[in-house]
Amino acid sequence: MESIVISGGRRLRGEIDLQGSKNSSLPILAATVLVRGVSVIHNCPDIRDVDAAVKILRHLGCLVKRENDTLIVDSTEISCYNIPETFMREMRSSIVFLGSVLGRMGIVQLSSPGGCEIGLRPIDLHLSSLRSLGYTIDEAHGSILCRRVGDISGSVISLSFPSVGATENAILASVISKGRTVILNAAREPEIKDLADFLCSCGCRVEIGSQGTVAVEGVDSLHGCEHWVIPDRIAALTYMAATAAAGGEVLIRNVDTSAFLSVLPLFEGAGCEIKDKGNSLLITMRRRPIAVRDIRTMPYPGFPTDAQAPVMTMCAVAEGTSVIVENIFESRFKHVGELIRMGAEIKIEGRLALIDGVKELYAARVQAQDLRGGAALVIAGLCAVGETRVENVRHIDRGYERIDSVLQSLGAEIRRINDE
Ligand code: UD1
Repeated sequence: MESIVISGGRRLRGEIDLQGSKNSSLPILAATVLVRGVSVIHNCPDIRDVDAAVKILRHLGCLVKRENDTLIVDSTEISCYNIPETFMREMRSSIVFLGSVLGRMGIVQLSSPGGCEIGLRPIDLHLSSLRSLGYTIDEAHGSILCRRVGDISGSVISLSFPSVGATENAILASVISKGRTVILNAAREPEIKDLADFLCSCGCRVEIGSQGTVAVEGVDSLHGCEHWVIPDRIAALTYMAATAAAGGEVLIRNVDTSAFLSVLPLFEGAGCEIKDKGNSLLITMRRRPIAVRDIRTMPYPGFPTDAQAPVMTMCAVAEGTSVIVENIFESRFKHVGELIRMGAEIKIEGRLALIDGVKELYAARVQAQDLRGGAALVIAGLCAVGETRVENVRHIDRGYERIDSVLQSLGAEIRRINDE
């Protein structure tokens, strides 16, 4: 078990190269299962969730090799259609293999992913999409068995909520088919477009409409391709929140600000100066943050739920009272108790958090309980007085590529220790 130890009080200063997107890499790696050949995926972050996806690919029979930030996946031979429970438990997003294994093999068996740290996370929309496509589904004793009976000839899928994972599974399960599938009220996150771009490079036609419509023109097979994963917008927002909370000036390179334009005014409102330079962004914070009145997490292009926890730490040290409403996940305030241990003044009422900014946080021994909440605690450590120890770093390593080294390169006094 590892911890991150931070001596707070240093302003951040310097330049960083942003990692590739976790939430793009995972569905794209799952999509390589549909390819009868070799996929070369560049800008794939070196994080635990990607390792978990690679383990599943190998279990299915793919040959996978990493060369720096490139993953080379040879899916010519796929020998298996079941995903054991251990893999599903290791990473909930493994559910995105449901659509791709089904599309390739015509059958998939996996264990039901169940709830996780941030909520119940049902998969009813994933399963109803597959049923609309004509697949049969048997669920028993926590296991799900889906099969293709006859041809998949296209369908109209209407999602009652624009679920990211359900949209990805609906796309993946309809690519190899004899017809056109239209997904209505699909998720509009940039990672969906990245998945569509990958599939198009492999020989399929996936069109993203403007109003949450995705159209998939089925094909008989996909060929390999070379693809560059988009930059990680959530990691960008995390490092922006860190700079806003701790103060300083940071240039984030390899960023695509068009993926989070709607969130930039929030940082400006908090007192940050932002220079959007196309594929890099300069954020400068010379003062204590100003409270942000009203943050509501929403599906894209609204405020992303994944940035809620890191931004809450910025609010915790802001001047005034901030309000955050978490609309996407029901248990996504697990970091709050730990922030309170560090002196934050936060009240939770259902889905609403009221944050009375304090001038200073103080160091404590705290535990990361989920990925983004863990990052929020590291940011809190950067602005706390004394030495903070964030335990359970494995949660943070799921999605951030060496967060401690990145912050150290910006001048933070931070190190990783082994608890044993
Ligand atoms: C993805 C992201 C995650 C992000 C989330 C919301 C990946 C790997 N993960 O997760 O980082 O926080 O989008 O932007 O891309 N829901 C149902 N039934 C379903 C599916 C979802 O009720 O069948 C609910 C969920 O419980 C949740 C909400 O819909 O309350 C949003 O979930 P969804 O968009 O599916 O998120 P994920 O794809 O799991």
